[in-house]
Amino acid sequence: MNDLAGKHIVLGLTGGIACYKAAELCRALVKEGATVQVVMTEAATHFITPVTMQALSNRPVYGSQWDAREPNNMAHINLSREADVILIAPCSADFMSKLLHGAADDLLSLMCLARPIDSVPLLIAPAMNREMWDHPATQRNRVQLQMDGCTVLGVGTGDQACGETGDGRMLEPQELLQDIIAFFQPKVLVGQHVVVTAGPTFEAIDPVRGITNRSSGKMGFAIARAAQEAGAQVTLVAGPVSLPTPRGVRRIDVQSASDMHLACVDTAQEATIFIATAAVADWRPLQVADQKIKKDGSGQPPTMTFVENVDILATVARSPRAQGGALYCVGFAAESHDLLAHATAKRLRKGVPLLVGNIGPATFGKDDNALLLVDANGSRELPHNSKLVLARQLVSEIAARLK
Ligand code: CTP
Repeated sequence: MNDLAGKHIVLGLTGGIACYKAAELCRALVKEGATVQVVMTEAATHFITPVTMQALSNRPVYGSQWDAREPNNMAHINLSREADVILIAPCSADFMSKLLHGAADDLLSLMCLARPIDSVPLLIAPAMNREMWDHPATQRNRVQLQMDGCTVLGVGTGDQACGETGDGRMLEPQELLQDIIAFFQPKVLVGQHVVVTAGPTFEAIDPVRGITNRSSGKMGFAIARAAQEAGAQVTLVAGPVSLPTPRGVRRIDVQSASDMHLACVDTAQEATIFIATAAVADWRPLQVADQKIKKDGSGQPPTMTFVENVDILATVARSPRAQGGALYCVGFAAESHDLLAHATAKRLRKGVPLLVGNIGPATFGKDDNALLLVDANGSRELPHNSKLVLARQLVSEIAARLK
């Protein structure tokens, strides 16, 4: 992926042991297509050398406002004017306090103050000891910085370099990378609460066996991520898959179609958008054996009776909130042939305004897909692409239909 292609990021480092993570972050930003200009405070250079950051960013590091490399000797102006975003990671307690007061006694703080406030956003990733983070002064500064338009990214929890345990660690480089990528996505779903179902279900036969399918959950997880990036509150109801939870998404793990149904009915009460990507088993064994079913020596397989599972999507789509227009429902159809005809029929059968068709065998487990959107006005193809790109396109299609 090249989610940051064309973006120029000024990465500021302030004094803190989390500077070691900034090296990995810089590398991740560059790998994602960004150009990165590193600016370090004097304190940061005690933790990591400018040589390391220059090698990783492929650009000389700036550290002094008296840097004669700039023809006009105004590094603070030049560097801030080029940036699409300024990211301070790690941001120390001291640097938060400097930003808050508009201090400008070193290049990094001077550059933050001099940045065009409306066109160059400032993001900070705080990193400090838990007592420093919890201190009323730091929390006051955090709130005031947000009021001043600065985006304060979260902090991690866990063991700290000082030996204590608690809040205040800098987020991991991959978490920060996802937050930066999300920051640049259009916020088309602000104020919406999206519930997404994803993955297969598992219908138990006995304590060790069950019926499931080959759905990987990747499309649903990508949609959950894309909806969260677009500013929505997202709940992901996931069948048994081992995918990582997208950042900022609430995940409810379920096994069977019945569990998924209960979780969906519950969460859909507060939702404004319901997207059903899960490959829900159509049938479940009528009875689940308490003990493992053993061979009886006759050579005959056991007889099993199945009952139909509830259609979760159709049930949610029939709810008063969906019928009244407060809940927009989107279904998926995995077909093997005649996609348009099947998707059109399935949209009507499920009673949803939008149905997304895809060719199941071509997409199961893969990282890419192609989608066919069918609504009351006709159909539209989203051509072959990565599932994340398609998820973002689908999110913007849904947002357009909500208007
Ligand atoms: N779905 C659901 N609950 C079920 C079955 C399906 O919520 N018990 C949802 C899926 O998540 C998907 C859509 O309904 O969004 C299409 O499901 P699919 O199984 O492909 O359609 P069916 O109605 O089962 O039709 P068929 O098996 O004949 O293709």
